[in-house]
Amino acid sequence: MVQKFRKKIIAGNWKMNKSVAEAEDLASGIRRALAEVADVDVVLCPPFTATKVVGDIIADTAIKLGAQNMHWEGYGAYTGEVCAAMLRDLYCHYVILGHSERRMYFHETDEVVNRKIKAALEGNLIPIVCVGETQEEREAEQTEEVVGRQLRNGLVDLSGDLKKLVIAYEPVWAIGTGLTASPQQAQDVHAFIRGVLQEVFDEDTAQSIRIQYGGSMKPANAVELLAQPDIDGGLIGGAALDARSFTEIVQAAQ
Ligand code: 13P
Repeated sequence: MVQKFRKKIIAGNWKMNKSVAEAEDLASGIRRALAEVADVDVVLCPPFTATKVVGDIIADTAIKLGAQNMHWEGYGAYTGEVCAAMLRDLYCHYVILGHSERRMYFHETDEVVNRKIKAALEGNLIPIVCVGETQEEREAEQTEEVVGRQLRNGLVDLSGDLKKLVIAYEPVWAIGTGLTASPQQAQDVHAFIRGVLQEVFDEDTAQSIRIQYGGSMKPANAVELLAQPDIDGGLIGGAALDARSFTEIVQAAQ
């Protein structure tokens, strides 16, 4: 097996936080600290209402813009939704898909996530595909079954440059709880995910795809998590809402 170099990718998922003015402040702080960073991919995913202002602030830097969700159709009567072309129009490069909060509160199924991934790839966006088990599923030793199913169903029938896909392993029990998977727990699941990617795609693709960890990642635990061989970055919630802690996590990835 050829070990591939994978550039680390740290993305901030701001979820439903920040007014336009607050987003401007946060993006400006992150820009001041990270505009020159080239050895880590940095992505900001503000709420839709702040996408434009954040995009303008980071426009001439290496920091990239992402969205937190999108619809699978290209246009039409889907009240409240946005499509891939609208995100590209605002210079988004990435889109988070299948986040556990969307699966849980908005009943997104693996099939829906699959449709969205296809639409994102067709629309020239890089999907950040989230998978992860609940506390009950972990306790019942179903982690691999659940994560394997989410991946196999979510990634079926894709075409295009699949090496650019990003997967985020986010154990639901670690999101916003202050509980973090131990580096070993996370590494075990990441290695499992890479094995599934090899089955679904091929070895070269599986070795190229970056797998982020998400779930209470903070400056204090980032170094150890990011040192694991199959952990290629982080998808950060709470700690991404503060310029200093987000910056420190990016520095931990360098
Ligand atoms: P926290 O970092 O707040 O646990 O959130 C993780 C997450 O859900 C990122 O998408």
